[in-house]
Amino acid sequence: MLDDGSGSEVDAAITSRRSLRAFLPTPVPRATVEHLLDVAARAPSGTNMQPWRGHVMAGGRLLRFCDAVEAAFLAGEPEQRDYRYYPETFFEPYLSRRREVGWGLYSLLGIGRGDTDKMRIQHARNFRFFGAPIGVIFTIDRRLEIGSWLDYGMFLQNVMVAARGIGLDTCPQAAFAGVPNTVRAALALPFQDVVVCGMAIGHADPDAVENTLRTTRVPAREFMSFTGFED
Ligand SMILES: Cc1cc2nc3c(=O)[nH]c(=O)nc-3n(C[C@H](O)[C@H](O)[C@H](O)COP(=O)(O)O)c2cc1C
Repeated sequence: MLDDGSGSEVDAAITSRRSLRAFLPTPVPRATVEHLLDVAARAPSGTNMQPWRGHVMAGGRLLRFCDAVEAAFLAGEPEQRDYRYYPETFFEPYLSRRREVGWGLYSLLGIGRGDTDKMRIQHARNFRFFGAPIGVIFTIDRRLEIGSWLDYGMFLQNVMVAARGIGLDTCPQAAFAGVPNTVRAALALPFQDVVVCGMAIGHADPDAVENTLRTTRVPAREFMSFTGFED
């Protein structure tokens, strides 16, 4: 908090970030994306290992990649997995939080509970990066450990916050981690490269109903304990 009780510009960049799921086709220059990634790479990492790696796509290359991954998904290829993002069985309080965001998005889109065909089509939109002009696939060397994944998360958040700083929007996408073999084939990557996630980068479509979704957060006083302040 600043002295006058307001938030800083950094707070504003962090709190204005949302996952956007419909983008305008407005191009984003390579220099802009490179700048974002250079800034993001200032993230700390254990012994400065900088475990992040990735592939930034635009234009025809992006379209061809999307065509390949979307087609493989819609053809019903079995789910593949390099790593497990979610627990096998959800439990509270995570189950309720997951349901809240899932039903929130689906109800905006008019997708009813149990309408698995429509849910699948919505999921497939991930593989077109929701129409964004820039699609990124992030990878990590399979030999690295959980510590490097912590570092990776800091880097990814930096990309998204730096994007807000210059008026761009993003959506992080674990959907790509559900089809790593397809992604590796489309990018001619070795098995050594684990697909961490994808990310759509661009300008959000302000008229898209899915972009009106606002997610909630538990306040710090509920997820942390504070002690010693009254001593
Ligand atoms: C690593 C990561 C992967 C995600 N993968 C997806 C995804 O594949 N598709 C999607 O629509 N949203 C995805 N999300 C977005 C989350 O649903 C979203 O962050 C969460 O609901 C909170 O909403 P907010 O980002 O708008 O604050 C992902 C988020 C993270 C951090």
